[in-house]
Amino acid sequence: MVEHLPVTSVWLTCQRPAREQRRGRYVADTSRHPAKMLPDAAVHAITAYTAPGDLVMDPMCGAGTTLVEAVRSGRDGIGVDIEPKFTAIAQANLALAATHGCTSWGQVVTGDSTNLAALLPASSHGQVSLVLTSPPYGRATHGLVRTVPGAGVDKRDHLYGDKGVGNLAYLGWNRLLEGWRRIVAGCVRVLRPGGVFVFTGRPVRLAPDDLIDLPGELFTAALSVGLEPVERCVAMLAAVRDGQLIHRANMFGLMAVRKARTDGIPVSLVAHEDVYVLRKPRDRLRPVAKAGPQHHMTPAERR
Ligand SMILES: C[S@@+](CC[C@H](N)C(=O)[O-])C[C@H]1O[C@@H](n2cnc3c(N)ncnc32)[C@H](O)[C@@H]1O
Repeated sequence: MVEHLPVTSVWLTCQRPAREQRRGRYVADTSRHPAKMLPDAAVHAITAYTAPGDLVMDPMCGAGTTLVEAVRSGRDGIGVDIEPKFTAIAQANLALAATHGCTSWGQVVTGDSTNLAALLPASSHGQVSLVLTSPPYGRATHGLVRTVPGAGVDKRDHLYGDKGVGNLAYLGWNRLLEGWRRIVAGCVRVLRPGGVFVFTGRPVRLAPDDLIDLPGELFTAALSVGLEPVERCVAMLAAVRDGQLIHRANMFGLMAVRKARTDGIPVSLVAHEDVYVLRKPRDRLRPVAKAGPQHHMTPAERR
């Protein structure tokens, strides 16, 4: 059964268009990733749930938004993605942050996160303060569209990467959820007790009478591997001005809605993502640490 939590807060994470949020902070190739998190959403989660010096991790890091915003906020960041072309972009984004004077540590690993604990340095196990991630929502929901002068509309990078390498985007809903469950179980291993797990997602409508409550399913799977619920929030994908929503959909989003309506599927432009916040239970048997300065591992210790 899908579990639910009431929404407790709305994050105004799209007051600026996405490209403005990324301008000067991300390399141009970042646009090759079809489904990025809004940088302002990542900043909100990182500043709400961590302190400077904490370690932030994303097991499906794509172009590296979580990692970039972590290191630019004085946190350390580590991420994994199964597609080498995306980890190369994430790496370039971290390198750009370093040229801008960010001294925090950031690392990107290429691999299948259903085997997460084996991919991350053993010294990071039990050290992660925040996991911030978003899984693919299936192959059909994302894409990049640009208008080419004189050539009309060019739709490209519709797909995440190569099929058959374990990318959850291509596995069908049941295997996607099973892969997700294994990835979250790995996150539980590397989170510190009391560490926070945040994911964003949105429902997927496949037919007039077929709506997949993907966020609810992802949340239920996260509970099943031992995480505790904390809160549910909404991250805006539209701006809010004078009580009105200003949509930020790109041409792909507009075209997808138009096509779905033509096919009789009652969809609207998506204006928000669900954000679920969970926590790894604290170890109740551990003696309470004496008050004093916290020790944050150095990058050398984490490797
Ligand atoms: C919604 S995107 C995440 C985007 C990212 N938050 C960003 O801002 O760029 C989901 C990512 O999960 C990756 N992925 C899918 N299956 C994976 C797996 N088994 N292990 C690691 N990464 C995976 C995809 O390649 C994709 O980049």
